[in-house]
Amino acid sequence: VSDELTGPLYASRIGRRRGLALLPRGEAAKALDRVRDLYEAFAEAGLDRGSRVVALGGGTVGDSAGFAAATWMRGIDLIQCPTTLLAMVDSSLGGKVGVDLPQGKNLVGAFHLPVASVMDVDCLGTLPEEEFRQGLAEAVKYGFGEDPDFLRRFADRRASILGRDPTVLIDLVRDCARMKLRVVAEDERETGGARARLNLGHTVAHGLEAASGYGGWKHGDAVAVGLAAALILGAHLGTCGDGYVREGIDLIRSLGLPARPDRSWEEILPFLLRDKKFRDGRPRLVIPREGTRCELREVPLEELRRAYEELARDAP
Ligand SMILES: NC(=O)c1ccc[n+]([C@@H]2O[C@H](COP(=O)([O-])OP(=O)(O)OC[C@H]3O[C@@H](n4cnc5c(N)ncnc54)[C@H](O)[C@@H]3O)[C@@H](O)[C@H]2O)c1
Ligand SMILES: [Zn+2]
Repeated sequence: VSDELTGPLYASRIGRRRGLALLPRGEAAKALDRVRDLYEAFAEAGLDRGSRVVALGGGTVGDSAGFAAATWMRGIDLIQCPTTLLAMVDSSLGGKVGVDLPQGKNLVGAFHLPVASVMDVDCLGTLPEEEFRQGLAEAVKYGFGEDPDFLRRFADRRASILGRDPTVLIDLVRDCARMKLRVVAEDERETGGARARLNLGHTVAHGLEAASGYGGWKHGDAVAVGLAAALILGAHLGTCGDGYVREGIDLIRSLGLPARPDRSWEEILPFLLRDKKFRDGRPRLVIPREGTRCELREVPLEELRRAYEELARDAP
């Protein structure tokens, strides 16, 4: 299963196959009607319990084809072949698959770990700048959230990363995959709290995305702003030094990512309050800590407002 772009570009690299089903590009792939199309293609190709679905494309293909694989004959093997940086460092790992409803994103889904995620950084050569940047935001998130050594390496190699040097990209993707899988192994079904650490920067990101009606902000760009806000919050709470925060925001910006919100706190607040983490008024937020991994903490919403407004006012 591929999309209308990645199929023609890369499907010839997959060896023996029974057929090729093409999804529309982007979020349109993640709809129940498209999953029904996939079931029809699976039936036509005669897929049985011993067959495997290969999802060749970005995160939307992985999520939609993955959900079809998770439910076809109560679940058949899935191989993820991510072709975007975001899918390589994030969505093709960890087993979350699913589709959207008109009522919201990712409302229908399953946990279905792939038997393998096969990545070829060659594919990143055709990825538009804007899409590449979305993956960089998730990659740098692991640096701030999980591993200070990785963050240092990332900052040192930013020029080669931006130049898409394949050797450096292989290292980057492997490091990110290791970090994500370590967290997922601790908390596969998101019941223990470890997996919540992967939401660093995502509270503000979801607020910005929702306030812009999901049209204005790309996810990685919004995460970048969320990371910058989280760093400032860390400075206020004493878990990050000022120099670390400054350098962190510089790093985000040097990757071509935004670090400043274009909406006021009042505009994003209603969407934050809808979030289930906020229902009791004392939200649990993921707080970065300089030199070590991030942690989940109860923080008054007022503190997040202060950090957000400081970022909106002072970020270059
Ligand atoms: N399951 C998870 O754990 C998880 C985690 C994060 C994000 N997601 C989901 O992932 C989706 C976003 O994934 P995405 O950013 O990969 O988007 P995407 O799949 O829409 O791909 C982005 C665009 O790039 C094109 N493209 C893909 N590979 C290309 C290549 N090699 N060269 C040129 N163009 C290429 C696609 O056709 C598409 O137009 C969202 O739906 C999000 O909810 C899921
Ligand atoms: Zn994300």
